[in-house]
Amino acid sequence: MALLTVQGLTRRFQGLVAVDSVDFAVQAGTVHGLIGPNGAGKTTLFNLVSGVLAPSAGSVRLGDQPLDGLAPYRRTALGLARTFQNIRIFSEMTVLENVMTGLHTRLSSTWGILLRGPGFRAEERQAKAKARDLLAFVGLSEAANARAGDLPYGDQRRLEIARALACEPRLVLLDEPAAGMNPAETHALLGLLRRLRDERGLTLLLVEHDMPLVMSLCDRLTVLNFGRRIADGTPAEVRAHPAVIEAYLGTGSHEVSVSRGAVS
Ligand SMILES: Nc1ncnc2c1ncn2[C@@H]1O[C@H](COP(=O)(O)OP(=O)(O)O)[C@@H](O)[C@H]1O
Ligand SMILES: [Mg+2]
Repeated sequence: MALLTVQGLTRRFQGLVAVDSVDFAVQAGTVHGLIGPNGAGKTTLFNLVSGVLAPSAGSVRLGDQPLDGLAPYRRTALGLARTFQNIRIFSEMTVLENVMTGLHTRLSSTWGILLRGPGFRAEERQAKAKARDLLAFVGLSEAANARAGDLPYGDQRRLEIARALACEPRLVLLDEPAAGMNPAETHALLGLLRRLRDERGLTLLLVEHDMPLVMSLCDRLTVLNFGRRIADGTPAEVRAHPAVIEAYLGTGSHEVSVSRGAVS
């Protein structure tokens, strides 16, 4: 079953067509990679799917539900969460508090919390317990009370993932989660993303330049170049696709070497 369906999706900026009539579907329970050289339109496509940007044309569906015209918070409520290419955490808050901000999109009595009414204590206790579970899942239990801004870079990325999970999403969009990570952090991230799919049944749409990670993790790939979809298929199919090889070699891009071996 397709959890996310993108049809004819287009976004123009003045004269530039950043995303150009793109079609693809993400099957439930899979990790789907969205790759392409810098400027290919990947982040713009994420902004269209999450509702931050309005499309010039085309449609986006989550399961059977059309998302067109819905504000980002309504898409979150329907089960769509994301992380950002440039980390967005609350640096001055603790790690635990950051995760709790994600939970609040799902708490029943937001007003109760604001007014500190009856039920506030119980609900806050539950929220804390849940946030701690999520931190354990991403391997950040020890850092729960640290100031988020003091975390090493790779840990901040994992914190963003924990906060995205707090919304109880069905689909998580991850924009370059391995960017800036060292090899050990990247390896840990690979394991974490696998567990999200295999243990939690989550569906992931992943933008990532780390090709060994992409090739070993993704079930399917869609490749963009200059806003257009140039290939779609399994990692093996995409890697052998002439248009993909040409797009990457043509840019002289340092970020992708399609022939690099996969990590385990
Ligand atoms: N808000 C914007 N205004 C004008 N041009 C933009 C805007 N956002 C992105 N672009 C342009 O759209 C193209 C695709 O950008 P982007 O989606 O960020 O690519 P990617 O994430 O694949 O590197 C680029 O040429 C970029 O300069
Ligand atoms: Mg980008």
